[in-house]
Amino acid sequence: MKKPKTAYVCSECGATALQWFGACPSCGAAGTLSETISERGSGFRPKSAPSSVSLGEIQPKDVERLPTGVAELDRALGGGLVAGQVVLLGGDPGIGKSTLLVQALAAIAQSVLYVTGEESVDQVALRARRLALEASALRLLAETQLERVLGALEASRPRVAVIDSIQTLWSESLQSAPGSVAQVRECAAQLTRHAKRAGTALFIVGHVTKEGAIAGPRVLEHIVDTVLYFEGDPHSAFRLVRAAKNRFGAVNELGVFAMTEKGLRGVSNPSKLFLSDHDKPVPGSCVLATLEGTRPLLVEIQALVDPAHTPNARRLSVGLEANRLAMLLAVLHRHAGIAMWEQDVFVNAVGGVRIGEPAADLAVCLAVVSSFSDKPIPAKVLAFGEIGLAGEVRPATRGQDRLREAAKLGFERAVVPRANQPKNKVPGLEVLPVERIDQAVRLLREL
Ligand code: TYD
Ligand code: MG
Repeated sequence: MKKPKTAYVCSECGATALQWFGACPSCGAAGTLSETISERGSGFRPKSAPSSVSLGEIQPKDVERLPTGVAELDRALGGGLVAGQVVLLGGDPGIGKSTLLVQALAAIAQSVLYVTGEESVDQVALRARRLALEASALRLLAETQLERVLGALEASRPRVAVIDSIQTLWSESLQSAPGSVAQVRECAAQLTRHAKRAGTALFIVGHVTKEGAIAGPRVLEHIVDTVLYFEGDPHSAFRLVRAAKNRFGAVNELGVFAMTEKGLRGVSNPSKLFLSDHDKPVPGSCVLATLEGTRPLLVEIQALVDPAHTPNARRLSVGLEANRLAMLLAVLHRHAGIAMWEQDVFVNAVGGVRIGEPAADLAVCLAVVSSFSDKPIPAKVLAFGEIGLAGEVRPATRGQDRLREAAKLGFERAVVPRANQPKNKVPGLEVLPVERIDQAVRLLREL
């Protein structure tokens, strides 16, 4: 019997089926089967054994990095591109992915190729002209058919290439529509294989959909070397490029840009972006010294505590973890005697930044207490520290760096975990160490 060319693989359990089912015949999960090319080859046949090497014999070479010429992008990449590196740039439509990559390719000014599947070459040229880029050497290709794109890459062997975007590509070996999981995965795998073989550094653009991207970049994260996410509130000009995975550098590195009419501008001192300017201190606001990758960042945390008018008080957080907020309110009640079950509590990280680290806890608590008691935290005071369920204030990593950044921006007092109290004084900054949440709340009253 002739083998079918494609098979259907369950993304939950990995079982294969020869036809599509609504639910996986093996594990029963619904809607998880997607089309892939079926593996050829007939069972297990041992080949001549390749010899393994011991770690000690390997002399690792330092990888040579090719800077993109966009400093903030290089920072997110961990210092530039590596030959054969495949970078996935994910983000909402319209956030600025194409703009960033055209700027980067123009700055690299070596043999580069921009494959555009979404826009015509005229549109890309128009954008480059609007950005006043010196990019006459930039080669453009408007193509969506994978095999032809691979042919073009093979023929010109650029040092850096951009695929904009993976959702528009389709391979003739699959029947599913462009943008489907099967097409996206197959195209990315083929492109990655080519990049490794040819030593081309490859940017793959992928749109993230609101639902967590069924056909989006998530299915590619394990194929590529580096995953960058382009984030930012579309209503503000600021854009963050965050490394979520990087085989050639640190993760959680952050590049900060501002979208201007002349394209994306790097912001080298981003701390000020996330602080709002109040004429005088207002209740419910506390500045947090957080860490994004290796970079300390000051972010204003705002809280609003207001009597609830429904039986279920609301807890809402923007840019901070919602479950963590519920936990912190319980800790405040149990260990500091502040009950908020008849209050709606809203918290927000200013400037559309997203904070994942637990060191934000202390600032969130202080902002909430400040709003609840309607007593502002004085100007030039900031806080950081994790709070445990027993009410203890736990140290944060790299406290010294956070304190130095605070001093640099003119802050005068810092509420920090006792373990983060620096051995050497940070000039211009008074450090107020706390051990427990009730102690921090009391300190707030005396500030
Ligand atoms: P774009 O790079 O096309 O987004 P993506 O490729 O992620 O879909 O950027 C689109 C937005 O950027 C668009 O809404 C207009 C804005 N923009 C500027 O504000 N200034 C500029 O110089 C450019 C080129 C775009
Ligand atoms: Mg685009």
